[in-house]
Amino acid sequence: MGTQRDIETRADCERLVRAFYGQALEDPIIGFIFTDVAKLDLEAHVPQITDFWETVLLDAKSYGRSAFNPHAALHGKVTLRDGHFERWLQLWFGTVDDLFAGEKANQAKVHALRVAQAFMLRLKGFPSPADPAPSPPGLVVTQHDPSR
Ligand code: HEM
Ligand code: HEM
Repeated sequence: MGTQRDIETRADCERLVRAFYGQALEDPIIGFIFTDVAKLDLEAHVPQITDFWETVLLDAKSYGRSAFNPHAALHGKVTLRDGHFERWLQLWFGTVDDLFAGEKANQAKVHALRVAQAFMLRLKGFPSPADPAPSPPGLVVTQHDPSR
């Protein structure tokens, strides 16, 4: 509390990312999405997510993709609900605050919030397992007015 330094290097970004996944993978609310649904290969994933944060926080330009697309694909397998994002943010904010303090640490929280909010909104336009099942062909669904 108050004694941490700020995020300054790529190694700092990696430390943050590893600490976050250490919690996220074991989390009772979102852990299964990484371990069971995405079957995340953490050692392959850490460099990419470190690129992302190095680009956001340290102006590194090492990340040049759309971060949204893999989440849209994931949402097709398991519905990513607002509550999942809220939990993701809770863990991220907690990890940042545990390890770092300062302007970059604050930016890490602010930018995560923006991205999460954008993802939550955009995902609502993408297919997910929570969508109503399509009617079988030829079946006509009629609505009856119970007041008649
Ligand atoms: C230092 C300045 C910034 C850097 C280096 C930066 C970098 C990035 C990167 C690398 C991504 C992921 C690429 C992508 O998915 O398209 C991203 C996504 C995003 N950023 Fe930033 N950003 C910055 C400032 C901002 C600001 C000022 C805002 C809003 C006021 C913002 C809002 C967002 C949002 C909403 C997304 C997710 C977009 C989506 O729906 O895919 N960023 N940013
Ligand atoms: C419910 C919340 C979230 C879940 C369950 C989740 C899960 C995942 C998973 C499983 C992947 C790997 C996908 C793949 O490689 O096929 C991934 C990639 C990634 N996630 Fe998330 N994520 C969440 C929210 C966020 C947020 C809020 C951000 C940004 C602040 C973010 C940033 C990224 C980035 C940068 C990648 C790497 C994409 C790439 O390969 O270029 N995620 N996420």
